[in-house]
Amino acid sequence: MATFNHKHIIGLQDFSKEDLELLISTAESMREINNRLIKKVPTLRGKTIINLFYEASTRTRTSFEIAAKRLSADAVNITPSISSATKGETLSDTARNLLAMKPDIIVMRHAVSGAHNFLITKVNCAVVNAGDGAHEHPSQGLLDLLTIKDKFGKLDGLKVAIVGDVTHSRVARSDIFALTKMGSHVYLAGPPTMMPPKVENLGNVAVASSMKEAIQDADVVIMLRIQQERQGKTLMPNTREYSRYFGLNPENLKLAKPDAVVMHPGPINRGVEMSSYVADGDQSHVMKQVENGVAVRMAMLYHVSGGGETE
Ligand code: CP
Repeated sequence: MATFNHKHIIGLQDFSKEDLELLISTAESMREINNRLIKKVPTLRGKTIINLFYEASTRTRTSFEIAAKRLSADAVNITPSISSATKGETLSDTARNLLAMKPDIIVMRHAVSGAHNFLITKVNCAVVNAGDGAHEHPSQGLLDLLTIKDKFGKLDGLKVAIVGDVTHSRVARSDIFALTKMGSHVYLAGPPTMMPPKVENLGNVAVASSMKEAIQDADVVIMLRIQQERQGKTLMPNTREYSRYFGLNPENLKLAKPDAVVMHPGPINRGVEMSSYVADGDQSHVMKQVENGVAVRMAMLYHVSGGGETE
């Protein structure tokens, strides 16, 4: 039986195909708990999990908290905008102080890429990355994999188009690292100003010359959010122009396979990255992604806690 040999979850780039398969299969079994009348098991009873989110979040923070509670852990949320971070406390000092309270896991989102690599040098508990700058968003990558596997029963051999602001997207990086390891064929499309200069360094991906080329016959179309908060300057003439060339609408979606699934990590800029017809249409799997997010985060917390019985 496969074992999980990582103390922390910082990024999917660090994980083998077997690690990814183990996390996905654990999430698949965790889903059963989420469908029970009483959605709670004692697996992580007595464990303390601190959610430390230095950036805004709806989906990730809520689902990490729900995941912890469904596994009976004690979850504590810290909002830096009302914490001593506003008084100038450094991440290092915050970490030392939190560690004094003996948490078992710290789940952190931070605007700085690599902040978690720093945090793990300051604490002896497990650290889970809930998104760091433009680096990685491992829980989103895993829930994307699970959502695709739910639809097609496999990941290998699928054509996956990832469209939009690749440069600033941590979701794109985690998806690329994981999908290519699982044998998917990843095609990227986006404005040249939103495509990283050495994109080939991200892995075995193809850069399409247009959105049409990327989504032609695709099994999966993942639309990225424009990361305005990470763009130092305006990288597109205007949103109407962006939507014309890189927005998903019912017309260009016809280029993908008829049973193609449409995904987006959220929050969606409706009418820019995709039209509401697509976002709310039959092919949209956006709400399935959110649903799978709880099971995936339960699996992540379970494995960094050392595993054991789920009951
Ligand atoms: N996908 C995602 O990270 O959403 P939130 O920012 O709402 O957590």
